Amino acid sequence: MNPNDVNAQPTDSIETTDFDTLVDKAISRRSLLKGAMATGIVGFFTLSPMAKAVADTMASSKLIGFEGIPASTEDAIKLPQGYRHTVLMAWGDPVLPGAPAFDHSGKQTAKDQAMQFGDNTDGMTLFHLKDEAGNIIPDRAVLAVNNEYTNNKIVISADETGSAEDVAKLQAAHGVTIVELKRDSNHQWHYVKDSKMNRRLHANSEFEITGPAAGHDLLKTMADKTGTKALGTINNCANGQTPWETYLTCEENFHNYFGASDAEKLPAELAEFYGAKADESKNKWWKYDDRFDLAKNPNEANRFGWVVEIDPFDPTSTPKKRTALGRIKHENAEVVVNGDGHIVVYMGDDERGEHIYRFVSKNKYQPNNPSANRDLLDEGTLYVAKFNGELGEHDGKGEWIALVHGQNGLTKENGFADQASILVNTRKAAKHVKATTMDRPEWITHNPSTGQVFCTLTNNKHRGNKENQPLNAANPRQSNHYGQIIRWSAAGNDHTADTFVWDLFLLAGNPTVHPDTLYAGSKNITADNMFNSPDGIGFDKGGRLWVLTDGDMSNEGDFAGQGNNQMLCADPSTAEIRRFLVGPVGCEVTGLTFADDNRAMFVGIQHPTKGFPDYLDGGKPRSSILVITREDGGVIGA
Ligand code: FEO
Ligand code: CA
Ligand code: CA
Repeated sequence: MNPNDVNAQPTDSIETTDFDTLVDKAISRRSLLKGAMATGIVGFFTLSPMAKAVADTMASSKLIGFEGIPASTEDAIKLPQGYRHTVLMAWGDPVLPGAPAFDHSGKQTAKDQAMQFGDNTDGMTLFHLKDEAGNIIPDRAVLAVNNEYTNNKIVISADETGSAEDVAKLQAAHGVTIVELKRDSNHQWHYVKDSKMNRRLHANSEFEITGPAAGHDLLKTMADKTGTKALGTINNCANGQTPWETYLTCEENFHNYFGASDAEKLPAELAEFYGAKADESKNKWWKYDDRFDLAKNPNEANRFGWVVEIDPFDPTSTPKKRTALGRIKHENAEVVVNGDGHIVVYMGDDERGEHIYRFVSKNKYQPNNPSANRDLLDEGTLYVAKFNGELGEHDGKGEWIALVHGQNGLTKENGFADQASILVNTRKAAKHVKATTMDRPEWITHNPSTGQVFCTLTNNKHRGNKENQPLNAANPRQSNHYGQIIRWSAAGNDHTADTFVWDLFLLAGNPTVHPDTLYAGSKNITADNMFNSPDGIGFDKGGRLWVLTDGDMSNEGDFAGQGNNQMLCADPSTAEIRRFLVGPVGCEVTGLTFADDNRAMFVGIQHPTKGFPDYLDGGKPRSSILVITREDGGVIGA
């Protein structure tokens, strides 16, 4: 195929999605491993069956056209030859009309911040504008982007908040930013500072709570006796987008903002399943804003931890917290239109030993009836995953367990009063049905040409060390500090099916420090491309798989030779991986979206700690969105 043709799909990847083939492969690997076991070669000191599988298929990629770059510890953006970057927007840049320019002194007020780009850029989606006939306008778009949390030392020049104004400023730096984008005659993308489409959503914006848990007692507060009107979205990690062109923002570590002036009144389920503490260490919003004091507002935290749907084209619309998708520490929300029209959403819960979820809509997507799709995410069934398999084998079969009241032991007698309480305390229900504990599920993506689903499991120091997180087939390494990527194929390529087959696409590792052990990583990990802690992940339209890291950047010990956080490109057919980008000192690389022609890639650089992007003496480092293009205008990655 022509690698520059973004519509061309890799034909050889069909093989990897065929359900029967995967089962056959799983069986043959099992036989291979049993042979190894018979000779006493087991466990951590042999190459994994996955490594063998990768070795069998390793071939030079036809999909990836750039030369991989070396690791780096410099305070700079590194890209392959022929690529360049610009900074689209950085923390504090003006977004709404009347917003002041960024001030490196850090003196901007909470009111200023509420009109500027928030801190810690994360997941994002570019939506092209369309003409009246419904055709994409190639040089106009809106970008919806998450502002996950705040670097307090940089934003308020202190680790801990010390005043109501500090808290208000940090609250204004959270949430979501929506900006109009334009591409100029030099094919460079810019954001439009004074566009009427621009919007900031933060910790005090208005939201509607919808779906089965809306209006339930667990969601009612003093200020909202209806349990349907929430204030604020926080810790907006990664994202998703629907085929009806709405943006999904996912609330992750919401517990970090709550505390309790009376520790006795800390809600028990919030503490047990979501890690809330009476005196949360740094943000201390609860000290200056009663809404976050659980002793005074015990249900306020129940109004966070949801997937929120936003219409990016209508700045007057009220975003909706979709309770049918469950309440967890949401990473992202990967939307798939199943063959029969059902909408399936795959979601990870990023904490050590938590789980992977799936939502299946009750009703079907209607491409020609947009208004019928608007509330598809309000009715359906939530499931949690079990990854079955034998330890030492890196593949197996899996099943989805429905989290439905009255099924699978989720009954009143077992502490589940009704469906709404299952959705509010999703983690409790998942534990009850014995879902597989995973090594911190981060982003999930699916290959649009094959249907295969990939999830990053970033790392887990508790694996094999805590009683409730023993080694299992999908999470096979003790004290896993490198992470892995798991993938699965739905039975019959039907994403609503109850079963799937899975394998490990890669085990990250360090083949230099730990040769010939499971910590070397799978065979597709080499001294030239190694990394740790895969986090962001996404496919482009050409079928390339992009992996972004948020890991240990010490460049020593277990991580020697891996350098700063980075971004890699994988060929899902051959499993070849090449390093594409290295970020500046201290950052994580997170957030990924493309212009429709795949000739501009948008990537987030979150929490840099040195000079990036302004490199001013005494200036502040700023989380920023990059636009990456090719000097010859070609397709990114090809
Ligand atoms: Fe917000 Fe799990 O990363
Ligand atoms: Ca992440
Ligand atoms: Ca992470």
